[in-house]
Amino acid sequence: MNAEIIDSIRLQVSAKLDSKNKSQFGQFMTSSKIADHMASLFDEKTHKPKLLDCGAGIGSLTLSAAKTLHDIQFIELWEIDPIMRTYLEKNIVSLGVPFRIHTADFIHSAVSFLLEKTGERFTHAIINPPYKKISSHSEHKKTLRKVGIETVNLYSAFLALTIMLMEQNGQIVAIIPRSFCNGLYYKPFRTQLLKECSIDHIHIFESRNKAFKDDDVLQENIIIKLTKGKEQSDVVISLSHDQHFSDYQEKIVSFKDVVKEKDNERFIHIPVHEQVVLNSQLFSVGLKELSISVSTGAVVDFRVKEYLKQEPAENTVPLLYPHHFVNGELIYPKQHKKPNALRVAPETEKWLMPSDGFYVIVKRFSAKEEKKRVVAYLFNPNEIKATKIGFENHWNVFHSNKHGIDETLARGLACFLNSTGFDNCFRVFSGHTQVNATDLKNMQYPNFDVLDKLGHQYHPTMTQQQIDELVAGIKE
Ligand SMILES: C[S@@+](CC[C@H](N)C(=O)[O-])C[C@H]1O[C@@H](n2cnc3c(N)ncnc32)[C@H](O)[C@@H]1O
Repeated sequence: MNAEIIDSIRLQVSAKLDSKNKSQFGQFMTSSKIADHMASLFDEKTHKPKLLDCGAGIGSLTLSAAKTLHDIQFIELWEIDPIMRTYLEKNIVSLGVPFRIHTADFIHSAVSFLLEKTGERFTHAIINPPYKKISSHSEHKKTLRKVGIETVNLYSAFLALTIMLMEQNGQIVAIIPRSFCNGLYYKPFRTQLLKECSIDHIHIFESRNKAFKDDDVLQENIIIKLTKGKEQSDVVISLSHDQHFSDYQEKIVSFKDVVKEKDNERFIHIPVHEQVVLNSQLFSVGLKELSISVSTGAVVDFRVKEYLKQEPAENTVPLLYPHHFVNGELIYPKQHKKPNALRVAPETEKWLMPSDGFYVIVKRFSAKEEKKRVVAYLFNPNEIKATKIGFENHWNVFHSNKHGIDETLARGLACFLNSTGFDNCFRVFSGHTQVNATDLKNMQYPNFDVLDKLGHQYHPTMTQQQIDELVAGIKE
């Protein structure tokens, strides 16, 4: 079946799907360009491949794999949605290869195969699993625990089970969100993956919404190729702007640049940007050494609804949102659908911070295609008269033991956070489209002297070029 036909079926089916199922089953289908690229990552010449495709949709991935793999022994596919299955069956029949489509839930089937030591084991798997959070009391969670899988999303559960269903040297190619690379809750999954497989190749899409552009998916996705039981060697890292792969580039990096030797968290780094050759003067100390911490803004507005005030009044404190800053400057109070203030009460007091120094605040969410991921602002206590201040949950807040920071240090930190060098480094490290406090915590920062130097010259209205020139002045 040619690529145009399969792509047109994909778009027709996508339009027919029940929108509730689309979200419940995480139904975002792979374009044939991406599917072909994924299939091209399989090593050739496996004798009589046994192929797994779980969460198969209309079978696009298997159709591509069948172009690369020869003499397939059999294919097993799982698909829970009956609408998908009608197309899936027709598409797979066209291959003329023995196959079986399981109508059951893959998680339940795979777990019982593993517990009962039944079912097939595979030499190849090509998967685009569903993406959906697994809630802590769900049947999926309980079932997964029976085989020792602790994870938080269907995609990592599908991949963890796939790994368990592979034969030694079995190859897996998966397109999945990048969030497992450093998400806190994905540590058990990373540990299993790194223990049981070698990472052979990671492909990253430069533009975060391009892999599933027909479905408007704003996720950073990667394609990862793993081999079960193979000794880890160098890793191929490749990059393209989007699914057309027209500007495809790749390089080979040492595994120790992907997973740092002494990193207990087992974070998976994807070193793509050449310019991230770190200046050791700028990336030299942890936040702890600076006696600074970073936390998520503590005021969750919908949880304190009854205390929100549109305008500042007696017995209220300022409640700051990202929209209160324009071009680096604070505009407060501001006409907006969101409130400007929070009433002080025993129920709200614990979420407030003293206005006794400067805070550096970083937006957690950047707009769709914003140039920079990390955008930092300065909270200057002299700009608003208040004894306490509420930072809304859309912020990350740098503070000194829950108090404000010294002015020059705060200015230096804001300057560094706003530099292109920091942003590039952060992007390599963080797979989220949002900026998490944990990721900021795990970065390296300049020491006191360097921050002091930057802090004496930095001003929030500086242009990007001025900031970068200032930071470039710090020589190694
Ligand atoms: C992200 S889509 C990918 C579809 C296809 N692999 C592709 O790449 O076009 C995930 C698929 O998994 C199916 N699915 C979701 N939960 C499932 C489950 N528990 N068991 C089996 N299939 C499931 C969905 O119906 C959907 O078709």
